[in-house]
Amino acid sequence: MNNLKIGVLTSGGDSSGMNPAIRSVTRTALHHNIPVFGIQRGYQGLIEDDIIELSSRSVSNIIKAGGTILQTSRSAAFHSQEGREQAYQNLKSRDINALIVIGGDGSFHGLDLFCQEHPDIQGIGMPGTIDNDLNGTDYTIGFDTAVNVALDAIDKIRDTATSHNRLFLIEVMGRHAGYLALYTGIAGGAEEILIPETITDLKQIALDLDSGRKKGKKSSIVIIAEGDEAGGAFHIKEELQTHIDWDIRVSILGHLQRGGSPTAADRILASRLGYYAVQSVLEGSSRIMVGIINDYPSITPLEETWASKKTINPTDLTISTILSE
Ligand code: F6P
Repeated sequence: MNNLKIGVLTSGGDSSGMNPAIRSVTRTALHHNIPVFGIQRGYQGLIEDDIIELSSRSVSNIIKAGGTILQTSRSAAFHSQEGREQAYQNLKSRDINALIVIGGDGSFHGLDLFCQEHPDIQGIGMPGTIDNDLNGTDYTIGFDTAVNVALDAIDKIRDTATSHNRLFLIEVMGRHAGYLALYTGIAGGAEEILIPETITDLKQIALDLDSGRKKGKKSSIVIIAEGDEAGGAFHIKEELQTHIDWDIRVSILGHLQRGGSPTAADRILASRLGYYAVQSVLEGSSRIMVGIINDYPSITPLEETWASKKTINPTDLTISTILSE
């Protein structure tokens, strides 16, 4: 018999698949007779003591729901020592001794600091972000759904682009990371993919687009990660327009990509990671993230998940270029 009690929260930008992750943590914990508490609105709810005990029925039918039933926040108060101390007191008042955080690198920074200050709390991270920018896992929860949501939009834009012989610039999310742009670009057959991990040469891009058109292309799509160093889609439109005089349209997908029912891949990933997160609590681990690499569970110290930029596979860009010729 252990004396464990687990708190679970979702933090930072939501991603589809957080609900199946909460469900998996809850039911795995209860399977081991570990009481589990849902902390609402991320670290902010932890500071404000917005905490409810979860039962198996609390997570019924959420496997297919987008968003997060616990809601989320980007808590400024958790950046202060005072805020974190209040959060600690709220956990202690319920004897909660393990905290599972589903979120991205900002949330993991907070968790790591919190557990350094309070080593009697086991902190376990589960990667949940549409950006897929964490080391220690091949994919993050929500990435696959976001790719598919964006792809659905891109396919529709391709229809109208082709009808009008137009060039579309489609901006996808990804403040610092180009994964979402790269994957949606390959899957959507984009002519060009602009990501922060590579240098963007707009003059060359204009030449390539022009040559595609001369070869008979009836439409062109350029996918732009919002964090690309060449600027946002509207700025890039202005720049490209100095080289080519076609009809260019801009579409910014924005928060659309964070919604929708999680795909099968995200439900399975979330289910596995929730199980591994509770296993890690049982093993006494702390300040780590659970992930999956090459289909095997993997444990990474939290600080390594953000220490270096997750690299993209450069061959993917070559493949995308060849296949859109
Ligand atoms: O981190 C996930 C993410 O969706 C980024 O891709 C995006 O830049 C950011 O969150 C947007 O944040 P917010 O929802 O606070 O506008």
